[in-house]
Amino acid sequence: MYSLLRPLAFVFDPEDAHHHALSAAALAARLPGGLGVMRALYSPRKARPVTVWGLPFPNAVGLAAGYDKDAKALFGLAALGFGHIEIGTVTPRPQPGNPKPRVFRLSEDEALINRLGFPSLGADVVAARLSGPRPEGVIVGVNLGKNKDTALEDAVQDYSLLARRFAPLADYLVVNVSSPNTPDLRRLQAGPALTALLSAVRAARDETPGRRAQPTPLLVKLAPDLSVEDLRESLTAAIDAGIDGVIATNTTLNRDGLKSPLSAEVGGLSGAPLTQRSLGALQEIVRFTEGRLPVISVGGVMTAEHAQARLDAGASLVQLYTGLVYGGPDLPRRIVEALA
Ligand SMILES: Cc1cc2nc3c(=O)[nH]c(=O)nc-3n(C[C@H](O)[C@H](O)[C@H](O)COP(=O)(O)O)c2cc1C
Repeated sequence: MYSLLRPLAFVFDPEDAHHHALSAAALAARLPGGLGVMRALYSPRKARPVTVWGLPFPNAVGLAAGYDKDAKALFGLAALGFGHIEIGTVTPRPQPGNPKPRVFRLSEDEALINRLGFPSLGADVVAARLSGPRPEGVIVGVNLGKNKDTALEDAVQDYSLLARRFAPLADYLVVNVSSPNTPDLRRLQAGPALTALLSAVRAARDETPGRRAQPTPLLVKLAPDLSVEDLRESLTAAIDAGIDGVIATNTTLNRDGLKSPLSAEVGGLSGAPLTQRSLGALQEIVRFTEGRLPVISVGGVMTAEHAQARLDAGASLVQLYTGLVYGGPDLPRRIVEALA
């Protein structure tokens, strides 16, 4: 079905196509009977639940951050069968992001390049939405980022404010220090900076009651472009700060082996070219931490086989974004059923 619809979707500018898809998911959830139809079409017939950080995930497959930045379509996206949905990146104050065009479709490579730069409606709007009705059973994470005009030295204040704000609303929190589209953000991944940042955010989280009978799990999302040495340094910093888990990985700045004429666009690359890189990062994390830190593996998960390989390599959960663009809305169901 999607193979017929995809050429139509690909007529639109990629960012417009994404907004249409998100609006359709939000609308379907509001129309009488709409959710029932979506569930009949897309909800998995079988699933294997997993418990991580004491949280009951209905299955191991989640929607990666960036798809529903402002928590606009939680019900519709949950009906696609995702076991968890990561909202955000949310910034403290609203901001528009970078000038358009800022998302590019590299069809020949089954990839995207984006340089969105955290467009966000801001913490107030997203917190109000998360305080309303939520789809049952689906775990909702909130991914946190600093405002563009917050100096890097003051980033800790942005993240701490967000942690306090969202600890009571989120099932887990993510400190995003790996987007390539906010100037210098990735510098926060360096050992001493990361220990300071994560310790402060953890303290903010600790002083705020969570949604459940435990502190809200705190994760850090890392880039795929760290050398093995730098990755180990980031992991040591995260462990020292008492972090609960890692999300690996964000988009890459690497452009090796691409065929598309758009490959020179500035921004973060996602999708198929990231599959091996992201798996490699996962393997290194599992090796270095001896499997003691739960990992959500994301990056180039385009098929059920890719997802299974991540779990086999020691990931607790997987996420996808670009796979949905190329594989279609029934990809989560196909993966969840294959993993069951
Ligand atoms: C258009 C777009 C926007 C994204 N926005 C965010 C974001 O706001 N925060 C974040 O942590 N990751 C963001 N990501 C990265 C994804 O969450 C994911 O880490 C990355 O795309 C690799 O997964 P994939 O190959 O399945 O897409 C974005 C990715 C894309 C394609």
